[in-house]
Amino acid sequence: MEKLLTGKLCVVTGAARGMGRSLAIKYAEHGANVALIDLNKEGLEMAAKEVEAKGVQALPLVMDVAAAQEIDSAIRAIESKFIKIDVLANCAGISTSRLLVDVEEAEWDKVLNINLKAVYLLSRRAARNMIQNKVQNGKIVSISSQASKIGEFGNGVYCISKAGLNMLTQILGLELAEYGIAVTAVCPGYVNTEMVQQVFRKRGPLEGMTPEEYEKTLTNTVPMKRMAEPEEIADLMVYLSSGKANYITGVSVTIAGGRTLI
Ligand SMILES: NC(=O)c1ccc[n+]([C@@H]2O[C@H](COP(=O)([O-])OP(=O)(O)OC[C@H]3O[C@@H](n4cnc5c(N)ncnc54)[C@H](O)[C@@H]3O)[C@@H](O)[C@H]2O)c1
Repeated sequence: MEKLLTGKLCVVTGAARGMGRSLAIKYAEHGANVALIDLNKEGLEMAAKEVEAKGVQALPLVMDVAAAQEIDSAIRAIESKFIKIDVLANCAGISTSRLLVDVEEAEWDKVLNINLKAVYLLSRRAARNMIQNKVQNGKIVSISSQASKIGEFGNGVYCISKAGLNMLTQILGLELAEYGIAVTAVCPGYVNTEMVQQVFRKRGPLEGMTPEEYEKTLTNTVPMKRMAEPEEIADLMVYLSSGKANYITGVSVTIAGGRTLI
């Protein structure tokens, strides 16, 4: 296998499970050292062990990405071990399932803080590191969603947060291009992780269905008639993080089995 990230330092949020965990392990397989960030200490330590088993260094950092004051100290811990950041992958995110008319202000704030504001603050801090260290071809890649492009019933706050993330990607792409930093997002459809199972459990009843009926109904709307596996999203993110994608910036790439074509 051609290793695309040998000797790089990749920072991954949401690395304890799901797509973030899969991506952290793939980065390690491609020869990168990995700083792993998540709230979930146990999951994070297990993921860090899997990263180290690939023969690279891992730095697990337990933190809430929505705690703005913790971001600087986490990045300083990364800088004191690795100095420069080559790649930031924003994978941490939460979903919510409530009609907009029923959403409380605290729920709005929580989703926007984790899915959008934290991505901005982390990206800003990582970009400053890349600029100061004259990193060649730095990358920022975030997980948005198909829900950023097509509004979903009962999922409004999430859709709005991810649509904001796409615009953040565009503007950062524009503003960081002169430093050679490429900024992209991926917009997955349904991906087989714990998060999507929670969505089936919560949104099914909102639509008058059991979680199993809701999963079947949604999967049937995908032209490829299946969910993605986390590794399929991670493969695209590895490509976008690598030297093969130096000229791709400001775009949000859909990976949804054709779901957004209808
Ligand atoms: N699963 C899907 O179908 C799907 C589809 C499109 C987009 N997404 C997006 O992909 C990303 C990853 O989703 P997933 O399905 O792997 O989810 P997941 O719930 O399996 O994993 C998310 C990880 O983020 C961590 N996290 C959440 N809030 C955090 C916080 N405040 N600080 C630090 N860590 C935090 C969690 O502890 C968890 O380990 C999310 O941004 C999600 O919105 C998911």
